[in-house]
Amino acid sequence: MSQIRAAISAISGYVPDDVLTNADLEKMVDTHDEWITTRTGIRERRILKDKEMGSSFMAEQAVLKLLQDTGTDPAEIDLLICATVTPDFPLPATANIISEKTGIKNAFSFDLAAACSGFLYALITAAQFIESGRCRKIIVVGADKMSSIVNYEDRETCVLFGDGAGAALLEPSPKYGIEDFILKADGSGCRHLYVKAGGSVKPASHETVDAREHFVYQEGKAVFKFAVVNMADACEELMKRNGLTANDIDWLVPHQANKRIIEATRTRIGLPEEKVMINIHKYGNTTAATIPLCLWEWENKLHRGDKLILTAVGGGYTWGAIYMTWAY
Ligand code: UT7
Repeated sequence: MSQIRAAISAISGYVPDDVLTNADLEKMVDTHDEWITTRTGIRERRILKDKEMGSSFMAEQAVLKLLQDTGTDPAEIDLLICATVTPDFPLPATANIISEKTGIKNAFSFDLAAACSGFLYALITAAQFIESGRCRKIIVVGADKMSSIVNYEDRETCVLFGDGAGAALLEPSPKYGIEDFILKADGSGCRHLYVKAGGSVKPASHETVDAREHFVYQEGKAVFKFAVVNMADACEELMKRNGLTANDIDWLVPHQANKRIIEATRTRIGLPEEKVMINIHKYGNTTAATIPLCLWEWENKLHRGDKLILTAVGGGYTWGAIYMTWAY
């Protein structure tokens, strides 16, 4: 590994004001608060209600705040990567739109689709440009307006997801930052979690709309089993090869898909509850935004040198873990 590390030097987030509670969902589908709370840990989620606004709106708010908080001139940004599965449009990239909206004029920008692992994938992609010395300031933003692809007639998926965005500024550091990572993908997972229509295999038609095939389809149990095993495996493998025990880890920052998956991972690697960032009860699963939203919320509790494990499992399948030291 090169001497220069890619470090998160600032973090920011945005969630819409509108709240969709479990009580609200009880009025929409055959479900109840107790089922949702005990099976998932979710109590409410945020929804971007304005139909004219997409993922880029939330990303824009998070990026503008990041630039403002750090006094960064948008012209200094070299690259912006947006992790999302709910782009504003199939074409062009939402990252291009975010850059335009935030005055980022000297950067190249692109979207990265790795579902719930999107932020991890984007962070590691960005880190390569920092470590190589090609870029000095990169923004990685995870943004998903899941409410735009959730079927609010399907009780098995509609209770799970929410909308949000989180953004990180990545800069070179001689001492802190990304130390190691494991990222994996297995395309056989596609059939368990995907949007059936709207791509090149099944372009939009009256039939696909009538069959509600533009919404997220998930076989929850299959994904759950995969997530429980692989999230913990990735963390364990990463800790082992870096000589880390549970005592060495200050924070576990898990993707927020299900509190039971987080609990299983925490138990497997032997961490106490107070070292785990959990906000799923407030936001549900915001896909690429869960991890930066956690870091944003916990920012005041983080200290320079803290050892963090970030981990996620998602559609694809995609999954992995990142070991980093906090830089500020
Ligand atoms: O971030 C991307 C990755 N996604 C995930 O990690 C999600 C992984 N999956 C899960 O989190 C869980 O599988 C779910 C929360 C989606 C479901 O929990 P589960 O414990 O696996 O429940 P289940 O699918 O086995 O369903 C149990 C029962 C079923 O009824 P029967 O067949 O036992 O009569 C479901 O029909 O619960 C029923 N059910 C519901 N009941 C009330 C399913 N959804 C609901 C609901 N309200 N919303």
